[in-house]
Amino acid sequence: MALEDWTKMTYLNSENSPSLLTINDLEIMKQKGEKISCLTAYDASFSALIDTAGVDVILVGDSLGMVVQGHDTTLPVTISDMTYHSRCVTQARKRAFVIADLPFMTYTTPAVAAENAAQLMQVGGAQMVKLEGAHVEVVAFLVNLGVPVCAHLGLLPQSINQLGSYKVRGKDSVEAAKIIADAAQLQAAGASLLVLECVPAELAQEITAQLRIPVIGIGAGVDCDGQVLVIYDMLDISMGKRPRFSKNFMSDSSSIAEAIQAYHHAVKAAQFPSVEHSF
Ligand code: KIV
Repeated sequence: MALEDWTKMTYLNSENSPSLLTINDLEIMKQKGEKISCLTAYDASFSALIDTAGVDVILVGDSLGMVVQGHDTTLPVTISDMTYHSRCVTQARKRAFVIADLPFMTYTTPAVAAENAAQLMQVGGAQMVKLEGAHVEVVAFLVNLGVPVCAHLGLLPQSINQLGSYKVRGKDSVEAAKIIADAAQLQAAGASLLVLECVPAELAQEITAQLRIPVIGIGAGVDCDGQVLVIYDMLDISMGKRPRFSKNFMSDSSSIAEAIQAYHHAVKAAQFPSVEHSF
């Protein structure tokens, strides 16, 4: 669908209400040592449930390619898919800060990234866009245009055909040093948030301590400033095997709402993840 067609469609939460969390609130949480809770969502119903539970951040992840669309990887996800799902999510939340993923091949140059970030923010209603890898020039360009950026390092699912597997990254000293250097460069380029996926807990702890910006971990130990999980994994309804870094929050809950609340409280209390969910 063309951008003009999208913008003709009305949606409820087209302007940020004053009650929405902002990036400043997340920075203050880091400064105060308050953990940031985050879950993925792809539709209005889950968005509302997550928001009601008090979860701070909703990530409209391109993981939707696997858990919603049934692909083997995130690669087939398009900017139209992301815009559509972002819009579904942003319409239904009242407080949570919403980040949307720029999917594979949508940030090949700064100009391409800017056009696609505009879709996610102007039509999808996202407050921030996330992109995988150390694309320092793209990040600086977007930030200069007023687009808040979340960087993503460690395991990069969009690079699966180069990586060959979804295994932990940064285990050897050379790769660990590169991730540390990339994180510092992305912060210097203006990224406001960093997702660290599947890295040793010790490495994540070091990066989190070094950076001024909040670091959200997934399979990155308890010392990150916050945690994110794919909602279908923590509800144990994903099609594949639940990853080691995730936890089934449904098993001790009588409803989805209760499971989401249990996750939120476990993150806030630094009870999730524990050593068994870390590398
Ligand atoms: O797409 C996604 O859901 C993500 C998380 C796994 C961090 O990027």
